[in-house]
Formats: sequence, structure tokens, C-alpha cells
Amino acid sequence: MELKGKVAIVTGSARGIGRAIAVALARKGANVVINYAHSEDEARKTEEMCRRYGVETLVVKADVSKRDEVREMVQRVIERFGRIDVLVNNAGILGKALRPMKVTDEDWDAVLGVNLKGAFIVTQEVLKYMKKGKIVNIASIAGKDGGTVGPHYAASKGGLIALTFNLARHLAPNILVNAVAPGPVDTGLISPEIKEKLRKLSLTGEIAKPEDVAHTVIFLLENDHITGELVDVNGGRLMD
Ligand SMILES: NC(=O)c1ccc[n+]([C@@H]2O[C@H](COP(=O)([O-])OP(=O)(O)OC[C@H]3O[C@@H](n4cnc5c(N)ncnc54)[C@H](OP(=O)(O)O)[C@@H]3O)[C@@H](O)[C@H]2O)c1
Repeated sequence: MELKGKVAIVTGSARGIGRAIAVALARKGANVVINYAHSEDEARKTEEMCRRYGVETLVVKADVSKRDEVREMVQRVIERFGRIDVLVNNAGILGKALRPMKVTDEDWDAVLGVNLKGAFIVTQEVLKYMKKGKIVNIASIAGKDGGTVGPHYAASKGGLIALTFNLARHLAPNILVNAVAPGPVDTGLISPEIKEKLRKLSLTGEIAKPEDVAHTVIFLLENDHITGELVDVNGGRLMD
């Protein structure tokens, strides 16, 4: 798919990986909807970075775990652009690093609410308008190997991978759905001490940059014959 002139929503694009994806889409000429829940200043910074490529942008505050806010966001996108061609479900939280027996119902609901239910809600609301297009979900290596953070985070990402496969089956051939499973990425999500430890686990000797993930997302969006695929971006840390 040619991205120039298309309309793309990137959830959680105020910072980190989402910002890199939004900017990469703008570089390709796509008009970008920048979504955030708390960080308005950062979202405006992402907008400024996208605008340098001469594309149109829309910044929308919406907590992806809340149906009414998501519905309103999608309405605003339709009012402004009249179409949605691309959805990147990127918004995510790590939650507290906890062993299984320490996870409370609140911890579980908070993480699953944003990472899994949030992605599903946004997808459902977008599908009311997307007749042909692409969806990419940002999962995690934790959804494959269980990760080290907590069962709630791992389950949210494992669920997102399964959701990707289900959506791919049901939405083809008009909408192709894929996921990316990054290993550790250099964003605010991971503390500097942990980053140092994780660097050593990668065959590349580095943790990924947000742009490495964005590059993979663009590849999946531009390709018209890949669906139901999970692409690892983990420096060879997990081979299967
Ligand atoms: N960094 C890693 O090592 C890594 C590895 C594998 C997968 N991932 C996944 O990649 C995605 C992005 O992570 P990141 O490292 O870029 O994290 P980040 O730097 O913490 O950024 C998270 C983004 O998500 C937004 N967000 C959080 N809760 C939201 C909500 N309820 N509704 C809408 N937006 C929300 C944040 O916006 P506000 O500040 O406005 O809330 C922010 O823009 C996540 O899904 C994460 O699980 C990250």
C-alpha cells in the first residue's frame, strides 16, 4: 500500500515507539492522528515533527481503555479526514514488576485494560469506518517468552498476538492485520539500569531504537501480501 495521502491513527504516539511510528508515517506522506492520554506537550512535539514532512495532523486525547473516549476520537478523525486507512495499536503500559501472587485485580485490570482491551476497543471503533486498510499491533517479546515484568504484562501481549491472528482471519482480504514483537527498546518504559543489563542479552549488543520498530511497522504497512504475521525485533534474542 502506498502510504502517501493515507490517514493513519497511531495510539499512544506522544512519546517513545509511537512517536517514531508517527514520524515514519509522516515521512512517507501519510496524514497522522496522534493520540495521547496524559502527555499533551509531548504529543504536540510529535505533531511538530510530523508537520515537517508537509502532512496533515490531528492530535486527540483519548484513553484507549475507555470506549466513549475512543468513539469520540474516531468521530473526530472521520469529521476531519473522512476516512481511516491505517491503525497502529501502540498505546501500552508496563505495570508494576510483580511476581504472580503479588498482582492485584487492580494491577491486572489496569494493564490488560490498556494493552489488550484498549487495542480491541480502538480496532472495533475504527472498523466501523475502515473498509480497506492495514492494522499493526505492537506486542512484545514478553507475549512470547513470558518476559520478566509481570504476568499481567505478558498476558496482555500474548493476548494481543492471539487477537492479531483472529482479526487477520476475519478481516482479510480487505484489511490486513499484523503484529510486531519488540524486545527491549530504548524508551522511557525501561529504566537506565535495566537497559544496561538487557543490552548484554542481545546478539547485536544493543537494545532497539524506537526507529527500528517504526521501520518494521512501515514494512508491514507497505506490503500487501503479509497478514496474520508476528515480526520479532529483538536483536536475535529469541529465535524460533
Ligand atoms: N520499550 C520497550 O522496551 C518495549 C518493548 C516491547 C514492547 N513495547 C510496547 O511498545 C508500545 C510503546 O511503548 P514505549 O516503550 O514507546 O512506551 P512509552 O515511552 O511509555 O510510551 C507509551 C505511550 O503510550 C501512551 N499511553 C499510555 N497509556 C495510554 C492510554 N490509556 N491511552 C492512550 N495512550 C496511552 C502514552 O501516552 P501518555 O503519556 O499520554 O499516557 C505514550 O505515548 C507499548 O505497547 C509497549 O508495551 C515496548
